[in-house]
Amino acid sequence: MEPKRTTDPTTINFREKFELKGKVIVITGACGLVGRAFCEAAAQFGAHVVAVDIPQADPAAFAKELEERHDNKMLGVALDVASKEDVSALLASTLDRFGTIDGLVNGHQNKSHLIFEPFEDVSEDNWDTVVNINLKGTFLTCQVLGSWMANNGGGSIINIPSTYSVVAPNQNLYKGTSLGCPAAYSASKGGIDALSRYLASYWATKKVRVNMITPHGVWNNHEKQFEDNFARFSPMERLSYNHEVASAMIYLLSDASSYVTGDNMLVEGGWTVW
Ligand SMILES: NC(=O)c1ccc[n+]([C@@H]2O[C@H](COP(=O)([O-])OP(=O)(O)OC[C@H]3O[C@@H](n4cnc5c(N)ncnc54)[C@H](O)[C@@H]3O)[C@@H](O)[C@H]2O)c1
Repeated sequence: MEPKRTTDPTTINFREKFELKGKVIVITGACGLVGRAFCEAAAQFGAHVVAVDIPQADPAAFAKELEERHDNKMLGVALDVASKEDVSALLASTLDRFGTIDGLVNGHQNKSHLIFEPFEDVSEDNWDTVVNINLKGTFLTCQVLGSWMANNGGGSIINIPSTYSVVAPNQNLYKGTSLGCPAAYSASKGGIDALSRYLASYWATKKVRVNMITPHGVWNNHEKQFEDNFARFSPMERLSYNHEVASAMIYLLSDASSYVTGDNMLVEGGWTVW
């Protein structure tokens, strides 16, 4: 029989498409500024969240907090995303607890204390650390968890590049502040962008969708001068809130985005539009 080429939208439950009920979602950088909002949003939409972060961030305690607030099973895993051994153990403990994986959100980033160093002074060690955690960490979670999803019916991956893998930093943004944006960060994020597009095409027929969310200027008690500078260069004249980034994650993780892959959803208040 010929497949049906049209569907009647009145038969579709659009609200239900956004649900993550019962889905197992692994979120790295879970205890960070945006990661916490990712975890809370996924939990509110019914997901079992696997909260992943470094041991010092105590992801197990955060997972317990989520579990109690949402009365749903969660898991906290402490690791280094740049270690294949750790990421393989993450796969094992997630499958052991839940038996499946439906989604992966790579929200980790390295914030070396040297991250605001001038380009001329960046050491090889610092470059390696940033690229290792940001880019290699994303490669490893995609390779280990993404391959599992590709071999087991599919899933949704969201990687996080940066506005600075889309455009160069406007150096005037940092004038009069103690902030800056290092080249290693931009370069590692550019790699994440390219890797994500590669995997979107590579796994498209395996039903693993690979998308990106690009946040920009998420409010975190920044110094006043930075806020003022930011407002001057932003069409919306403000920084964003972490929950504004998390809403995009729900769309890309859920069946509501079933025909979306290889996309980079810019949650940047129009920063790159002019
Ligand atoms: N905050 C922003 O304005 C902004 C803008 C653009 C892009 N981003 C990106 O969004 C994502 C989240 O940003 P954020 O502001 O929440 O960052 P954050 O620094 O608050 O959180 C990052 C988390 O990653 C964890 N992490 C660091 N190294 C790790 C490792 N080796 N293994 C596992 N976890 C590790 C940290 O412990 C931390 O909890 C990052 O990828 C960041 O680059 C953020």
